[in-house]
Amino acid sequence: MDFLTDPFLVDPSRIEGPVLVTGAGGCIGSWTVAVLARSGVEVVAFDLRDDRTRPALVMGEDLARTLTWEAGDITDADGLNEICDRHGVRSIIHLAGLQVPFCKANPAAGARVNVEGTINVLETARRLELKRLAYASSSAIYGMPPGEGRLSTLYGAYKLANEYSAKVFWLDWGVPSVGIRPNVVYGVARDQGLTSGFSAGLAHAVRGEAFEIGLGGPISWLYAGEAAAAFIAAISQDGADAPVFDLNGACMTIEDGIEILTGLMPDHQVTTTGTLLPIPGDLDDAPIRAHVGAYPSVTPEEGIRQTLRAFRQLQAEGRLPV
Ligand SMILES: NC(=O)c1ccc[n+]([C@@H]2O[C@H](COP(=O)([O-])OP(=O)(O)OC[C@H]3O[C@@H](n4cnc5c(N)ncnc54)[C@H](O)[C@@H]3O)[C@@H](O)[C@H]2O)c1
Repeated sequence: MDFLTDPFLVDPSRIEGPVLVTGAGGCIGSWTVAVLARSGVEVVAFDLRDDRTRPALVMGEDLARTLTWEAGDITDADGLNEICDRHGVRSIIHLAGLQVPFCKANPAAGARVNVEGTINVLETARRLELKRLAYASSSAIYGMPPGEGRLSTLYGAYKLANEYSAKVFWLDWGVPSVGIRPNVVYGVARDQGLTSGFSAGLAHAVRGEAFEIGLGGPISWLYAGEAAAAFIAAISQDGADAPVFDLNGACMTIEDGIEILTGLMPDHQVTTTGTLLPIPGDLDDAPIRAHVGAYPSVTPEEGIRQTLRAFRQLQAEGRLPV
């Protein structure tokens, strides 16, 4: 599976480790720990459970087994602090969170995990005087304020609260951070959340099953490896402010994505409802690239090709997730 992360490996001397990656068992987290570990950076993976299923999809089961893993709840500030102290953590990539459907199903849990959890991370960074912290916001903040024709969600409200919190931590206590707003992420390990449909469609195609994607029209195509690379680039230098950046990838329609799939796998049965996603799909990556420096970008054609290749290999190994 090395072909997945090879393009994103970094010079470990640019990173101040150990790096705590929260949400390491999720999609972007799996790619982030895989890239860091394969680059020779000391990583502490943190998630609710020690479940390495997704990291193993990206980095292989043997390497995933060697990860230093801490099971904990991001809402438990004492637990988080104890883990950071025990490992001597020097940088944090904070990805743990509950996505749109989970926040809607349980708003209080969503606020605890997404808002209070981020406060706990900022407080830890303050106590340890960390200079390298990147956290995940989301393009869902473009639904705020509600009622302006875009998708407004509690998730977006919580993420916007985090952006403001991070800025106040900078103003009041000089805690630097970089907020990153991924748009629609696709690729291996993207299997949950409102916009995971195309990735699920690719998995169904490899299994020879029909699948209808619940989205259509133009969206952002942000390859999961590219998203991880941006977060890693953001902790590759000391911060001196609390800026927030869009992270978009390429803009293309779902229908064009299905056409690319047809070119690679003519007999697939993946279709789309054509339902438009009321979140802008063409946000500008120039500001984040100017701030964090170069990191690889992946075209949708290449990302879809790599994902299909990986899913075929996982299918052959009996590990393609259902
Ligand atoms: N995937 C996308 O398209 C996308 C887009 C915009 C923003 N984001 C944000 O990026 C981050 C990572 O996204 P992802 O796609 O990898 O999400 P994901 O849902 O795949 O992973 C999130 C991880 O957080 C963990 N988690 C949840 N509650 C926790 C808790 N209380 N304590 C510790 N860990 C907990 C989950 O177990 C999961 O492994 C999230 O904050 C998400 O909101 C993702």
